[in-house]
Amino acid sequence: MEPLDETPQSDELYQQARRQEWRHALDTTSDRRAAGIPTDPTAIAAVPPAAPVTVAPAVPVLPIASQVPVSSVRRAHIADANDLALATRGLRVAFSGNEILHGVDINAPRGGVVALVGPSGCGKTTLLRSLNRLTELAPTAQIKGQVLLDGNDVYGAKVDLNLLRRRVGMVFQQPNPFPMSIFDNVAFAIREQARKRPTRGSLMPAVEQALQRAGLWDEIKDNLDRSALSLSGGQQQRLCIARTLAADPEVLLMDEPCSALDPRSTARIEELIVQLAGSLTVVIVTHNLAQARRIADYAAFLLNGDVIEQGFAEQVFETPTQQQTADFVAGIFG
Ligand SMILES: Nc1ncnc2c1ncn2[C@@H]1O[C@H](COP(=O)(O)OP(=O)(O)O)[C@@H](O)[C@H]1O
Ligand SMILES: [Mg+2]
Repeated sequence: MEPLDETPQSDELYQQARRQEWRHALDTTSDRRAAGIPTDPTAIAAVPPAAPVTVAPAVPVLPIASQVPVSSVRRAHIADANDLALATRGLRVAFSGNEILHGVDINAPRGGVVALVGPSGCGKTTLLRSLNRLTELAPTAQIKGQVLLDGNDVYGAKVDLNLLRRRVGMVFQQPNPFPMSIFDNVAFAIREQARKRPTRGSLMPAVEQALQRAGLWDEIKDNLDRSALSLSGGQQQRLCIARTLAADPEVLLMDEPCSALDPRSTARIEELIVQLAGSLTVVIVTHNLAQARRIADYAAFLLNGDVIEQGFAEQVFETPTQQQTADFVAGIFG
C-alpha cells in the first residue's frame, strides 16, 4: 500500500495560503503607484475625481467578429470568433461610488490569447479581477452588469466561488508562490478538490503534467521538495502558472505577468502563453504593446473605463477604426 501523504494540507495551512493569495489580489498598491495615484487609502479618498474626459462613444461591440474581414486577420488559436469563452455585458465597477468601469462589453473568443491594453489606471486590472469575482473582495466595490462564462452569469445567485476561480484561474503581476515546496504548490488545487486526502504517488501524474504544461518540469524534476521560494523570479511565475493549470481551468487570467521579469524570462512566458492558448482561453492584461502584438489573437483597447475598440489583434493594432486607438498604438500616449 502506498504510504499516506506526508505533507497533509491542514485547514489552517490552506486558509493561510488562500488568504495570502487574496491579499495579493487586493493589493493594487504597485499599480496605483505606477499610475501616479496616491497609495495611502485615506489620500485616495481625498483625491478629487478626475475631470471628465470626453471620448467618442465606443463602437458597438456586438457582433464584433462579423465586422472583421476574416481573410486579413491573424487568429491562430480562435476557431470561431462567435464562440465566446468569456464575455462581459454592461459591466460597471465603482469603488466608494467612484465609477471605474462604465459599462464594459468585452469578448474573449474561445481558445484565443485575448489582450486587454490601455494606459495605466484605465481599469484593466479591475476588469480582469471582475472576471473571476476577485474585485468584490474589496469592501468598497460595487459591481453591476454581467460576466458570462460559457453564456452563464458568474454573478448569478448559485455560483460556487471556489469552482468559478478554478474554472477561471488567475496569475498575478508579482509571482506569489505559497511558502511551501514546489510539489505542494502544484498539488494545492488538486488536494483542495479531493474528497479524501490523496497520496503523493496519486498526485504525481497531475503535478508533472501541470509542470510540463508550464514549461518548468525539466528544470526542477529532480528536486520537487525544494522550497518554491528558492526559485528564480521567472521560475516562480511559471510555478504559479503550473499551480493554476493544475486546477484545469478553462480560462487563464494574467495581469501583467511579465512586468517583474527580465527579458529572457519574459520571452519564456510569452512562448508558454502562445502554447497554452487553444487548449484554454488566455485573457492577459498588458500595457506593453509590443508584447500584445507578439502574442495576442484578439485585443481590446480600454481608456478611462470604456472599451474604445476590440477585435482581432491585427485589426486593432494595424488598422484601428478609432482615433484614440490609433494614437495609443502609435505611442502618442500611454
Ligand atoms: N480597491 C480599490 N479601491 C479604490 N480604487 C481602486 C481600487 N482598485 C483600483 N482602483 C482605482 O481604479 C482605477 C483603475 O485601476 P486599475 O484597474 O488598477 O487600472 P490599470 O490596471 O489599468 O492600471 C485607478 O484609479 C485605481 O486607483
Ligand atoms: Mg493594472
